[in-house]
Amino acid sequence: MKAEIPFSKDINLAFKNDPPGQWLSVLPKGCIRLSSGYPEPALVPSEELKSAVVHLLDKEKDLPLQYIGSPKIPELKEIIRKRLAARDVRVSDEELLVTSGACQAIDLVARVLLDDEALVALESPTYMEALEVFRNYTERFMDVPVDEKGLQTEVFEEMLKGRKEQGLPLPRILYVIPTSQNPTGTTMSQERREHVLALAEEYGFFILEDDAYGELGFENNPRLIKSLDKQNRVLHIGSFSKVVAPGMRIGWVAGAEELITTLNWFKKDLHHPFSQSTMAAFLESIDFDGRLKLLSAAYRSKCAVMIKALEEFLPPSVSWYTPEGGYFVWVKVAGIDTVELLPKALAAGVSFVPGKYFFLNPEEGTEFLRLSFSYAGEEEIIQGIRLLGEVVQNTMALK
Ligand SMILES: Cc1ncc(COP(=O)(O)O)c(C=O)c1O
Repeated sequence: MKAEIPFSKDINLAFKNDPPGQWLSVLPKGCIRLSSGYPEPALVPSEELKSAVVHLLDKEKDLPLQYIGSPKIPELKEIIRKRLAARDVRVSDEELLVTSGACQAIDLVARVLLDDEALVALESPTYMEALEVFRNYTERFMDVPVDEKGLQTEVFEEMLKGRKEQGLPLPRILYVIPTSQNPTGTTMSQERREHVLALAEEYGFFILEDDAYGELGFENNPRLIKSLDKQNRVLHIGSFSKVVAPGMRIGWVAGAEELITTLNWFKKDLHHPFSQSTMAAFLESIDFDGRLKLLSAAYRSKCAVMIKALEEFLPPSVSWYTPEGGYFVWVKVAGIDTVELLPKALAAGVSFVPGKYFFLNPEEGTEFLRLSFSYAGEEEIIQGIRLLGEVVQNTMALK
């Protein structure tokens, strides 16, 4: 008889959820990838990273490959701190932790702040992986709708008021992606940023600000909520995945010192010396602001190509938000179940992510799908949207 695995109480709770990563459908060969939030291959600086590695190892020999790591590791923190300061977020060394991607930062925050009694407020829809992480720690959620100006703070305020009046628990954290949100591509207005912070102060919750796309605005990059934060209630999360390379696995979290120290306590995978020192060497060798301009211009052009193709190939009943930055277009295909649409689209040669994965209540996502303009080339985007248009038209004709 096989031994029964003694999973903890918390892990058994998490097993009630769907297995992680179900949205990652395996793509048929040659299928145009409009499903994934990956950077465009040509925009991943592989040559520059290669030179950074060669330089680093020539100069420092074994150091970046040792547990103790290289002097470049504190330099990376310094670079991140300077970049944050330029965006009006001034944090000390003790208030910043470099993590293995933004995902690890989200997971660590959940680990130290959540338990099965904690209520988590989040945008509806939201980043599916964050939803999965939070579900590993609690079953209590409060989802707040998003419109073209991001999280609807007026609705959120009413919900909070109602809970308070009824003596119900208030959220412990709000997880929000204020700029170029995943999946909707929407950006929260300045007014709403101020409003949500005022709500956090009034109702006593912390804000987890996920800024994964915050420097990829097509026109400008709005102020971070963290830059308005006087009470140290905001935990700001950033990442190099979308602006350098996701495989480097480098992100960060900035916030109150006591919290950051605790996150560090539970982060047991060291500082990823090779990856962090390579990233520092790379950043020191390039004009990063220039790189951001180049990336924003490239993604802006790809986004415009996708929107034009949507206008051309999709029927008038299909609608979307026009993004101001980031990687995604959120599309509503009224009257069609996008989970049923996906196999037809894959067979035709194009992929997307069905909306259901981004909602606490999957049914709310039935008529939505997320497209990404980041990975595919412009010709592929046009071809992919043309194929999607055909599949949608054929499905509508059968109704
Ligand atoms: C909103 C958001 N946060 C975080 C991440 C993950 O970032 P990282 O690769 O740094 O873990 C993504 C990636 O898709 C994302 O869309």
